[in-house]
Amino acid sequence: MGFDKKILGIGAGYVGGPTMAMIAFKCPQHKVTVVDVNHDRIARWNSDKLPIYEPGLDEVVQTARGRNLFFSTDIEKGIKEHDIIFVSVNTPTKTFGDGAGMAADLQYWEKTARQISKYSDTDKIIVEKSTLPVRTAEALERILTASNRGVRFEVLSNPEFMAEGTAIRDLEEPDRILIGSRETEEGRSARDELVGIYTNWVSEERIITSNIWSSELSKLVSNAFLAQRISSINSISALCEKTEADVTEVARAVGMDSRIGPGFLNASIGFGGSCFQKDILNLVYLCRHYGLEDVADYWEGVVSINDYQKERFVHNMLSAMFNTLAGKKICLFGFAFKANTGDTRESPAIYVARRLFEEKAHVRITDPKALDNARIDLQDLSDQISYVEDPREAASGCDAIAVMTEWDMYRDLDYARIYRSMAKPAFVFDGRNILDHKGLFELGFNVYPTGKGALTHF
Ligand code: UDX
Ligand code: ADP
Repeated sequence: MGFDKKILGIGAGYVGGPTMAMIAFKCPQHKVTVVDVNHDRIARWNSDKLPIYEPGLDEVVQTARGRNLFFSTDIEKGIKEHDIIFVSVNTPTKTFGDGAGMAADLQYWEKTARQISKYSDTDKIIVEKSTLPVRTAEALERILTASNRGVRFEVLSNPEFMAEGTAIRDLEEPDRILIGSRETEEGRSARDELVGIYTNWVSEERIITSNIWSSELSKLVSNAFLAQRISSINSISALCEKTEADVTEVARAVGMDSRIGPGFLNASIGFGGSCFQKDILNLVYLCRHYGLEDVADYWEGVVSINDYQKERFVHNMLSAMFNTLAGKKICLFGFAFKANTGDTRESPAIYVARRLFEEKAHVRITDPKALDNARIDLQDLSDQISYVEDPREAASGCDAIAVMTEWDMYRDLDYARIYRSMAKPAFVFDGRNILDHKGLFELGFNVYPTGKGALTHF
């Protein structure tokens, strides 16, 4: 069967997998192939047990796979046979050398660029999907054209704004699609081709275009603004705990101001995920590079408050439990960085688990989707930490429950039974404010929410 366009996705991770699957799902007339260096990952994309958990993803993949969606490890063939290439390889924060802990590690991404350059025999449109530092497209163009074999590459920036846990909905009904291109005839023509793919399911008013640098920077800035809201409300949660104000009430009142808006004002144990910290640090690095020290300090503050919030949580546990956690059993409810994902990258639960371990507590972890990743994150402590699928069983015999992830299933467990099974006095630390604090208090728990007064029996 002949396809209209041949589209390749390089990188079959949290971004590339769902994004390419959605394009295939919505555009049966185009062939979509996804390649990855990781054989195991590709095997799982071709199986019934997909490598990532994302509500609604199974149905999308099942519909398109084998029809016009294919997963493969043959990167060379993929590059040769496709005309439009989406790049969604990982760009973590550098852990070594210049810019360590701050700048993006572009090694996977540069390797991909070199592979594209090496294997391309025909003109290609290259679409940047990975979040990259501003002006990376320019570097990409340089690498691509260095071999100078007469093949033309047109680079577009098309940042992905989907969030994990809601990826399918976000991809299906995006707030906006942003496409950055060069303002040349070739640039505009490549951009129009990409617009043509999205208009299969997204209305044209939602597709916005800009120059490449604006597009790259917009992604960093969107994430920085979102993270800033969380750090803002988290900073106020500390003040609420001192003043008998209630952070949920404050957030509600503040969020009803239409200039501010209600989203992303849930006080929490701190934000996690692969994007926020990485992107802010990228922004900070960029500002420092241009000598904008004050601007860099301003944004770095968002990350500092996040670190502060995580440590504050542990500190609150310590002081509530009579200044010692040594030998106490503590159950972490949730390990994913948010609900509806098995992803644990930068999850605040990693920090909390490690700190509790340092305090010589016995840590038990439960999570409906993230236990495999939790085991990897904490593998150096493997024999010291236990992993229990069922939250009731996990809490049994513990001194405290600490809610790390806002999974719905934790809202209505039989807490009377759980209370009876725990050591006394029994504590609940709700890092997500999802539980019925008054109800738990009445059952006998000592309850420590985030950003509101504790309910204790002492
Ligand atoms: C984010 C952006 O939302 C998305 O647009 C971008 O493409 C990638 O980064 P993601 O990391 O998947 O997506 O999750 P998000 O829903 O933004 O949550 C990030 C973190 O903030 C989570 O740890 C979450 O629990 C926390 N959070 C979110 C809060 O603590 N409070 C809130 O009110 C909202
Ligand atoms: P993200 O959240 O940005 O999608 P992931 O780590 O989930 O990040 O996914 C990135 C994927 O890119 C990984 O599966 C990794 O194996 C893949 N990858 C990295 N470098 C290359 C490369 N040169 N060619 C193909 N795939 C690559």
